[in-house]
Amino acid sequence: MHALVSQMTTSEGGGFDGEVTVFAHIADTLQQQSWCVVPGGLPMSLTEKLFCRIRDLDDAAFTVAGVGRSAEHTVNRFVRRDQIAWIEGHGDAEQAWLAWAARLQIYLNSHLFMGLFSLESHFAHFRAGDFYKKHVDVFRPAETQRGARRILSIVVYLNPAWQPGDGGELLIYDEAGGEVVQSVQPSFGNVVVFLSDEVPHEVLPASRDRYSIAGWFRRNGSVSDRPDPPR
Ligand code: OGA
Ligand code: MN
Repeated sequence: MHALVSQMTTSEGGGFDGEVTVFAHIADTLQQQSWCVVPGGLPMSLTEKLFCRIRDLDDAAFTVAGVGRSAEHTVNRFVRRDQIAWIEGHGDAEQAWLAWAARLQIYLNSHLFMGLFSLESHFAHFRAGDFYKKHVDVFRPAETQRGARRILSIVVYLNPAWQPGDGGELLIYDEAGGEVVQSVQPSFGNVVVFLSDEVPHEVLPASRDRYSIAGWFRRNGSVSDRPDPPR
């Protein structure tokens, strides 16, 4: 494990071998447990591009994040305080992110038969003091969801030189939500992947700006002649 982590952390990134090593580690881990943390799992060059992109996005590109889907969507400042900008594939950095995520999707589908069909993802900016209380990413119980529900969540972090005292950890809880099983620093290039309906998690407040991408792979939700919209 140690060797694997240092190999991934020091990899130049973007190299085919490095990428497949990371994908394989995620697939292997998801066979044992419902979450996986990969320090430095996002290629360095891609992380740098995405960091530049999120810093260049105008404040106007971000909107206050809400909770719940469509009609049930509400902004609740007691639950979450971050601001988000959906990734639509504009520019090199967003294209490179979508391409990397698409390769991960293909890898997981062929190794774990997960049936992942599409990805929705957004940049997120937590300002100092912002948080996201404990939650799961599937807003309604699985049985009541029609078609395309969120299957797999992915979060990548875009914060250079994050220090332990800066806060902003992602806390991952056991399925019952009672105990923290892992605490993750939002450091540059760290990747977290987990089953969207099984893993309660929480973002602690930080003392500085915290940048990330959060994304959800969904299953195909198309019903007969109604094609599935991307989100
Ligand atoms: C989310 C989320 C975690 C993080 O956006 O649903 O849980 O660490 N983000 O930013
Ligand atoms: Mn979440």
